[in-house]
Amino acid sequence: MPCRPPYARNWTSRRRPDKSLNPRLSQLQPYPFERLRELFGGIEPAPQKSAISLSIGEPRHAAPAFVLEEIGSNLGRLSNYPSTVGIPELRQAIAGWLQRRFGLAELEADRQVLPVSGTREALFAFAQTVVRPGPEALVICPNPFYQIYEGAALLAGARPHFVNCTASSGLLPDFGSVTEQQWQDCQLLYLCSPGNPTGAVLSLQQLQQLIALAREYDFIIASDECYSEIYFDESDPPAGLLQACAAMGNSDYRNCVVFHSLSKRSNLPGLRSGFVAGDAQILKQFALYRTYHGCAMPVHHQLGSIAAWSDEAHVRANRQLYREKFAAVLAVFSGKLDVSAPDAGFYLWPHLETSDTGFARQLYASENVTVLPGSFLARDAQGTNPGTNHLRMALVAEQEQCVEAAHRIVHCLESL
Ligand SMILES: Cc1ncc(COP(=O)(O)O)c(C=O)c1O
Repeated sequence: MPCRPPYARNWTSRRRPDKSLNPRLSQLQPYPFERLRELFGGIEPAPQKSAISLSIGEPRHAAPAFVLEEIGSNLGRLSNYPSTVGIPELRQAIAGWLQRRFGLAELEADRQVLPVSGTREALFAFAQTVVRPGPEALVICPNPFYQIYEGAALLAGARPHFVNCTASSGLLPDFGSVTEQQWQDCQLLYLCSPGNPTGAVLSLQQLQQLIALAREYDFIIASDECYSEIYFDESDPPAGLLQACAAMGNSDYRNCVVFHSLSKRSNLPGLRSGFVAGDAQILKQFALYRTYHGCAMPVHHQLGSIAAWSDEAHVRANRQLYREKFAAVLAVFSGKLDVSAPDAGFYLWPHLETSDTGFARQLYASENVTVLPGSFLARDAQGTNPGTNHLRMALVAEQEQCVEAAHRIVHCLESL
């Protein structure tokens, strides 16, 4: 029996309380899908019905073949370390896309664009870069919201402040409820437009009002626009934060940063490719942070991303699939469920007369359809959880499956 070296003795008992793990980790909430697994614990769904999942917002339309080919033919680039700021050609392709999409006259690819490995890590890392931790530090988020905003704020040493999105505020955050003191303490405002899960879109005017507040109170806006390319009217795409800056003469995008992704636009969630663009001073600090964070995008993924950002035909075809699918599903729900088409994005956010968690359980048990209870996507704020009695349905599966799920949901509602 080999004898243990002295430094290995009492390995498990050596951690002192004052040297325990980062205490901020204990503030993190379980992710909604973890809560869903717990909610469904012990249920055996009806075996004669095939499983249909509307719970996860993972795009399931086909990835564009030309992007996959581009990636495949550049696998040799795996022998290079990628740089944090990406290759100039990618930053140029992204800047070109932003200028075409949002009508931006000025945008410097070298200073105002940074590729990221999907917007999830970037939305998280951004708070670690810009937040000055302290008891007053406030990060304002919509409610319901994408859970990364909350975790990012907490781990950065700030308090999240949730602003409710309810029917009375058009499913957009009710910014009128934010007090003067809260705006003063605000260091970072997360926006999500089109919204996950509500599908509501902030107008150009609303974005401009928020930019004016950001300048007045000197906070940063992180605008998560990763659903901006899934919309229904080809002549009316959702506005973006940089577009709003340009329209009000803020041509250096001061205090403003946007997050875009190929995951939804191009059905490439596995590529982990997105970008951040806007205020050059902030991006300089973000690039510094990212040098240590170490999330540089592999070069062959960058080359595939250039192909994707340079083509709109596949994005239009993708929108057409969603358009047809939403029309077919909404026709099934008509008169049976309190739901309307979102402004954009691929979620439905129906309102129920009954408990969202209870209905989700019943639906899983009797129809083998999985949806997310709305209350899992929001927090109690201003005396209410604005997700209560809502469901989030991601219409990402093929149309036939989504329509079948809609019929089963109606059947379940009628059996209540
Ligand atoms: C609102 C929102 N933001 C960001 C993301 C992250 O997307 P990705 O990391 O694939 O770019 C998601 C993913 O579902 C999302 O729903």
